[in-house]
Amino acid sequence: DGLTIDELFDRTMGLTYNDFNIFPGYIDFPVHQVDLSTKLTRLINLKTPLISSPMDTVTESEMAIAMALHGGIGIIHANFATVEEQAAEVSKVKRYKQGFITNPQCIKPTDTVRDLMLIKAKYGFTGTPVTDTGVVGGKLLGLVTSRDVDFIQENRYAITTINDVMVPRERLIIGNESMTLQEAYTILENKKRGKLPIVDGNDCLISLIARTDLKKSRDFPLSSYDLKGQLMVGAAINTRENAKEAVKKLAEAGVDVLVIDSSQGASNYQIALLKWIKEKYPTYPQIVAGNVVTMRQAKFLIDAGADAIRVGMGSGSICITQEVMAVGRAQGTAVYQVARYARSRGVPIVADGGIRDVGYITKALSLGASTVMMGGLLAGTNEAPGEYFWGPSGVRLKKYRGMGSIDAMEAHVSSQERYLVESDAIKVAQGVTATMRDRGSIHKFVPYLYRGVQHGFQDIGVRSITELQEGVYGGKVKFERRSPNAQAEGGVHSLHSYDRQLY
Ligand code: XMP
Repeated sequence: DGLTIDELFDRTMGLTYNDFNIFPGYIDFPVHQVDLSTKLTRLINLKTPLISSPMDTVTESEMAIAMALHGGIGIIHANFATVEEQAAEVSKVKRYKQGFITNPQCIKPTDTVRDLMLIKAKYGFTGTPVTDTGVVGGKLLGLVTSRDVDFIQENRYAITTINDVMVPRERLIIGNESMTLQEAYTILENKKRGKLPIVDGNDCLISLIARTDLKKSRDFPLSSYDLKGQLMVGAAINTRENAKEAVKKLAEAGVDVLVIDSSQGASNYQIALLKWIKEKYPTYPQIVAGNVVTMRQAKFLIDAGADAIRVGMGSGSICITQEVMAVGRAQGTAVYQVARYARSRGVPIVADGGIRDVGYITKALSLGASTVMMGGLLAGTNEAPGEYFWGPSGVRLKKYRGMGSIDAMEAHVSSQERYLVESDAIKVAQGVTATMRDRGSIHKFVPYLYRGVQHGFQDIGVRSITELQEGVYGGKVKFERRSPNAQAEGGVHSLHSYDRQLY
């Protein structure tokens, strides 16, 4: 009963995740026993097979930190004005310590109490560090809390400077970089303080510890740590002139994995860069090359030393590559074909794009992907860059844009490099600009995805990704095609209206 994977992909037609179902098996274990640990690259293991995409509306340090805390990894996009800025995002992830706020909202001594009130209204903070530059990294000059401004009358807000009301540096209790959370907590408790600024050797502010955060600090048992105990992080690079410089700077910042970001990875540019990196950095950072959708493309990159292969062309939610370039492949077939080849070479693959819902993750893994990369699914979360805004129908939204959209290409040249654009005069868009609805915090959404995949595995009757793929490739786990009617039946149907709460 059912089709083996080779029968499913019988070469007559390209299939998407939506074109098939996996058959249920036999359940003899509880759902929490499903272990989703996997390989990101030849050398990097993760406990969660989920990656956030290097897109400027998806992954900067905040997203990367959250993804790594939950056992996945985030790839910092390359659309910054300078490589230094991108490397700084990598450093923020590397420096992250639970309970330490590494990007606290600061204020300048010459700002007024009115400015402070605006910050308070926007972020709800009660203790704001004062630095000479008004941002983290500047010299610490003081700290201003609600208590310092409570007695000031409202009509004096605009004429009272922070300098007049702050607790100056001499009277502050401060911590240094090597302090542990426990030590910080003890100080805050004993001295009855709410905030502890942390400075470096030059008295510059590097982070802030808040007593309220410490109280709610949590355990993240799946976290992705490197050998030094810091969170793991990736960064995207391109293949043009400054690529080698970028590799050096990102490697210095401690990046664990570089993703050569291209919509068509089988090129002499990418192969030359891959060889150069592998010669200079034989192990770390590890390199994910791509994107590809055929075995032949994958062979070029694996021969050149890729540590993992990223698969997908035109399957992303914001992509119009297949329509405009006439090139690409249905994502199910692409993952299956490339995985079949890459497995024989011992190279893990990343299934990139087209993940619309939890079940798509399970399907990508069943076809041989070791990890799954998502853009759109994560773009509506708190940790994605950008502010929420209210859409016309009263839905909270965030912007999400393709890296090949005109919007992104005009914002930064690195986006053009991903799509091999040669001149400013003629650009051909390969993506669109869109909005995503609010999906809440990664701290709820990723555990929801994780548990959802565990349930899928339990239904199939497998306890791990290895067991799933051995079952599939050994012919034990079976599939079935879905007719268009079956697809309609499998979705929500025949309702007047409905509401889908996710978790
Ligand atoms: P999802 O479906 O998760 O897809 O939103 C994210 C992936 O889509 C790719 N990407 C693009 N592809 N034009 C394209 O053809 C674009 O403008 C574009 N922007 C991103 C990318 O691989 C990403 O991970």
